[in-house]
Amino acid sequence: MLKILEQLRGPQKMRVVCNGHPALRKNSAPVENVTKDIRELAERMIVTMLKGEMVGVGLAAPQVGINKRMIVLHTCLKDGASRAGATAGELLLEPRMPIALINPEIVSSSEEVATETEGCLSLPGVDGTVTRPEQVVIQASTLDGENFQIECGGLLGRCFQHEIDHLNGVLFYDRLSKTEQKKNYIIMKKIEKQEKRRLNS
Ligand code: NI
Repeated sequence: MLKILEQLRGPQKMRVVCNGHPALRKNSAPVENVTKDIRELAERMIVTMLKGEMVGVGLAAPQVGINKRMIVLHTCLKDGASRAGATAGELLLEPRMPIALINPEIVSSSEEVATETEGCLSLPGVDGTVTRPEQVVIQASTLDGENFQIECGGLLGRCFQHEIDHLNGVLFYDRLSKTEQKKNYIIMKKIEKQEKRRLNS
């Protein structure tokens, strides 16, 4: 009976853990097999990304406290319409969003860089600009075992880099200039204190 009710309600949101939670600072383990649990986690991460108090364009498993190399993405902000200058990755992946991917890796990065404002569901209230390669070649797999290696730019390329950082225990705060880190330091500490209090309660 309980199972039926769960199915009717659909996948349940998860708590997004914040700065101070140990999962955000660990190196995550590769996903070896796409089990039922992995599929369920992917569905719950998608719901968490799209239906939270803050809507994200990406979420990595460590952000829900699970150190596995899985991310979910939803960067198709323009109704999936193809844009002039979109990279092959944007054209392939954006129509399939929201999408869950396992074991994403950066194969190569462009020399050209771009600087944009970033935010993160695990660092509410923190913002600043991050300089990253403008384009990256990404290798990843879908849950159905489809592998691809493709060039990604724009918001998608940035999002991949931000989420892969999470899988390696890196936060965008780490990549801010010293000045911007200083500006966000108090809020970072406040979030950390709240998270630790929550963990200890
Ligand atoms: Ni993030």
